[in-house]
Amino acid sequence: MKAYRAAILYFADQSAASPAPPQAILESDGLMITGPNDRGWQVVLAVGPYQQLAPRFAGVPVTHFPGRIIAPGFVDMHIHYPQVDVIGSPADGLLPWLNDYTFPQETRFAAPAHNAAAAEFFIAELLRNGVTTALAFASSHPESVDALLAQAQKNNMRLIAGKVLMDQHCPDGVRDDTEQSLIDTEALIQRWHGVGRLGYAITPRFVPSCSAAQLRGAGELAAKYPDVWIQSHVAENRDEIAWVRDLYPQARSYLSVYEQFGLLRPRAVYAHCIHFNDEDRALMRESGAAAAISPTSNLFLGSGFFDYERAQQAGFQYGLASDVGGGTSFSPFHTMLAAYYVGREGQTKTGLSLTPQHLWWQHTGGAAQALGLGGVVGNLLPGCEADFVLLNPQATPLLARRMAQAASLDELLFAMIVLGDDRLVERVMLAGS
Ligand code: GUN
Ligand code: ZN
Repeated sequence: MKAYRAAILYFADQSAASPAPPQAILESDGLMITGPNDRGWQVVLAVGPYQQLAPRFAGVPVTHFPGRIIAPGFVDMHIHYPQVDVIGSPADGLLPWLNDYTFPQETRFAAPAHNAAAAEFFIAELLRNGVTTALAFASSHPESVDALLAQAQKNNMRLIAGKVLMDQHCPDGVRDDTEQSLIDTEALIQRWHGVGRLGYAITPRFVPSCSAAQLRGAGELAAKYPDVWIQSHVAENRDEIAWVRDLYPQARSYLSVYEQFGLLRPRAVYAHCIHFNDEDRALMRESGAAAAISPTSNLFLGSGFFDYERAQQAGFQYGLASDVGGGTSFSPFHTMLAAYYVGREGQTKTGLSLTPQHLWWQHTGGAAQALGLGGVVGNLLPGCEADFVLLNPQATPLLARRMAQAASLDELLFAMIVLGDDRLVERVMLAGS
């Protein structure tokens, strides 16, 4: 067993019936005890006030981090590992951005040496920013998945990834052969899904880049492997939506095209979900699919604003995501701040649109729940895998100054959300290593 003493941030146990995010708890002098589970990974055995727990675990050596905050590792619900070199590319919206920057960069992932180096950088950058679980797009080259998951495996990190499916409306070098893409996807599922802490996601890029045959094949694989994830994009940009309407004039909506092909179910994660109507929102809830809200990307590409209020009313699952390289930062602090701006935009009631606790939950336990990993990662309650970050509230002069004035937990969390970045994350501990 191991014991860690510091301030400890975690979320209260939540009744399954409650739609509200659970209460955040900050033990100012806390103790967290971890021990190996039957697979040898560290899981949380106990968490609470130091004074209360220390006598029960008197024989366990304690690592003390004075002045630091232990917090759950962040969960990024949607990110593209071949797009690190695309961040900050100026374009007049999603479709030119894909054609001018993204597809050309992704063609480079045909080369194994490029994949391996990019995967190493990507995983290191996630961890440096405190992200311990992610759902990631690779490129359309199956080897790009091998490189990424092999790198995550080295760190025994919880990572879910998939080979992008794209067999039309894209250039040579990234375009799939339909039948081969489905054969490759199934081989990758068998090679990687459930190996250690890794998972596989069937990854149709978005409706315009996949033929009906490819979407049908993806849906068949999703039915054959029900605990494999699905990831895609939907209702991000108005030009994209008009294109889908041209391709599927009979479809009720963009989202309904995915439904038609059997691609809406629990563990299906759709990035953006901006231009929805209430029927789409009800379909998300009924199908058990989840939204990956990507606010820095949506602001950067001018895509629009996720409607938190209607999502909450409809009751479908959602969490936060960086969407690098449409997104502008790996940092969960930057993403949470952008989500706050987005929440304010759609605000119709008075009061705070999104509380600091809710923002933090959306990037930890809430995102984990939306991925079907509630109680596994994203929190530090007993039973959770011990993926955690050590935050240094003194990391910058301004942070130290502002944190010293924080009079409540919400103020303290907000100071970190507004002023924090990778400098706040002093260390990352993974349950698996
Ligand atoms: N839609 C299809 N592909 C992409 C992508 O790579 N990024 C974003 N933001 N939207 C997409
Ligand atoms: Zn994306």
